[in-house]
Amino acid sequence: MLAYVDGRYVPLDQPAIGVEDRGYQFADGVYEVCALERGRVLDEAAHFVRLQRSCRELRLRLPVSVRGLGIIVREVLRRNRLEEGKIYIQLTRGCAPRDHGARAPRAVLVVTLRPTDGRARAQSLRKGIAVITLPDNRWARCDIKSIALLPNVLARQDALRQRAEEAWFVGAEGLILEGAASTAWIVDAGGIVRTHPLSAKLLPGITRARLLAYLRAERIAVEERGFTPKEALAAREAFQTTSTASVIPVVRLNGQAIRDGKVGALSRALQNFDRQSNQRNLQASNF
Ligand code: PDD
Repeated sequence: MLAYVDGRYVPLDQPAIGVEDRGYQFADGVYEVCALERGRVLDEAAHFVRLQRSCRELRLRLPVSVRGLGIIVREVLRRNRLEEGKIYIQLTRGCAPRDHGARAPRAVLVVTLRPTDGRARAQSLRKGIAVITLPDNRWARCDIKSIALLPNVLARQDALRQRAEEAWFVGAEGLILEGAASTAWIVDAGGIVRTHPLSAKLLPGITRARLLAYLRAERIAVEERGFTPKEALAAREAFQTTSTASVIPVVRLNGQAIRDGKVGALSRALQNFDRQSNQRNLQASNF
């Protein structure tokens, strides 16, 4: 695979980043992950807007314009001739002698592309996944898509050790905020689709926004209202969303089945919402 690394297109396995890159030494950087589906980048504009916001919040300067970033992404796609995959965009503050406050001459941009593991993805979409809950031990600005992900990494490792695929973080108020790398949702006992409202404690998911718009357009009852692990266990359905896999049903929580432990009807129906919302957008633009 070929990647874009700080101005050049190089093989992904070629060392191309300085050892004093502040991303490597301090996790001083931000990122985005977008899905490539049938040769198209899903929600590219929204991902770029979120990247710019993350940059602003951390006083990082993109070394290229947003238009330039789009051109780089397309060039990485062209050089790799892949139709389905994950695009990873990372921006770090760049290289400087190690000192917390040091300024680097310029930020370092990296764009990589990897094929998605189609089998694993299909299996989790079809059968659903198991999730554990853990107390949230992250910093106070989880709305920024920072590459500093140690609590998320450890949480995911804990989940895997407990034969689960994801960990959902529970905040100080006892509500589930989001997953280690996903947005958490339930269809509660009353049939209302619920996800935690946006705040500095969670990432404003791109898929979250698109799904909310879709649910509202379809007049499906939805509320941005948090829920406890107990409510999740009593829910009709649970699922999580990410850019790379849209709606993943959650069928077990902390070792217990949610309802009958089978994928719920709405989760199943919503798995097609990408296609439906894309068609809707296409139809809207035809008139
Ligand atoms: N993660 N919350 C967190 C903490 C995330 O890391 C992600 C995405 C999401 C879902 O956001 P979106 O719908 O914009 O993908 C929510 C990516 C996929 C990752 O880190 O690999």
